[in-house]
Amino acid sequence: MRHFLDINTTDPADLRAMIDQARETKATRAGLPKGTPDREQPLENHLVALIFEKPSTRTRVSFDVGVRQMGGESIVLTGSEMQLGHGESIADTARVLSRYVDMIMIRTFDEASLLELAEHATVPVINGLTNRTHPCQIMADVLTFEEHRGPIAGRKVVWLGDGNNVAASMIQAAGQFGFDFTFSGPEQLDPEAVFVDEARAKGSKVEIVRDAAEAVADADLVVTDTWVSMHDALSTRERRHNQLRPYQVNADLMAQAKPDALFMHCLPAHRGEEVTDEVMDGPNSVIFDEAENRLHAQKAVMRWCLGV
Ligand code: CP
Ligand code: NVA
Repeated sequence: MRHFLDINTTDPADLRAMIDQARETKATRAGLPKGTPDREQPLENHLVALIFEKPSTRTRVSFDVGVRQMGGESIVLTGSEMQLGHGESIADTARVLSRYVDMIMIRTFDEASLLELAEHATVPVINGLTNRTHPCQIMADVLTFEEHRGPIAGRKVVWLGDGNNVAASMIQAAGQFGFDFTFSGPEQLDPEAVFVDEARAKGSKVEIVRDAAEAVADADLVVTDTWVSMHDALSTRERRHNQLRPYQVNADLMAQAKPDALFMHCLPAHRGEEVTDEVMDGPNSVIFDEAENRLHAQKAVMRWCLGV
């Protein structure tokens, strides 16, 4: 039984196999109506619980659709409507759900909740975002980059803004897939040093450059995310906006990157804040391919977890 908890705790060869499988399955579905079952039905007779303790559009729908395309069924659960949100422990929730379903995906707050769920579940557990990481997003990002530009190994990825959960998984991916990563944002919002150190130890060049224009020079991929994440207190909004304004991704900044540099954003975006409409809707933006690829990448993640 395999859990998909983070990019850095999953074997690089397995990550590569999942990306390659996602690309192949996506190709076999080209042009078909969304509800068409996959040629292979590896999740037939399988039930998957999808637990959300935070809002979601992409993760919720892409997991649900992915399970159905592979012949399984999903049960979407909201944390606050479960006993989990009313005092039942994570460990007991894990033990109970393991008697009903074949796999659990959870979006939660503290990473500790995810780890506790995985520790006590007897079925695979998938990280659908915690305050600290978002590995499914980055699997989709790697797939998207490679579809457009070929192998990501050796390329330069530049992250602008908040060194948040999505940034953390991207840094982990730098170490596992062998690309370079530059962070550009205010010092107060740097990614955790442990992520940076680990990627460097795996041989990836990881830099922190405070000046945004300098950071994006030679970038193959420019990425940003919301300035205020779901777990950030709303009282920090004004301070964060003031700190992050110099890191907005706009056409002037994109002009400093390689001419064919791609732009990505995990979405939801706050147009006019971390990124302008011009970039979101511009020729280098692949944000909707990125959103679609959540579906294809996660189908490969689910198959890997179940060994099917
Ligand atoms: N990118 C992402 O995880 O989006 P949702 O919050 O809509 O799931
Ligand atoms: N950093 C964002 C990502 C949303 C998909 C958040 O955690 O809210």
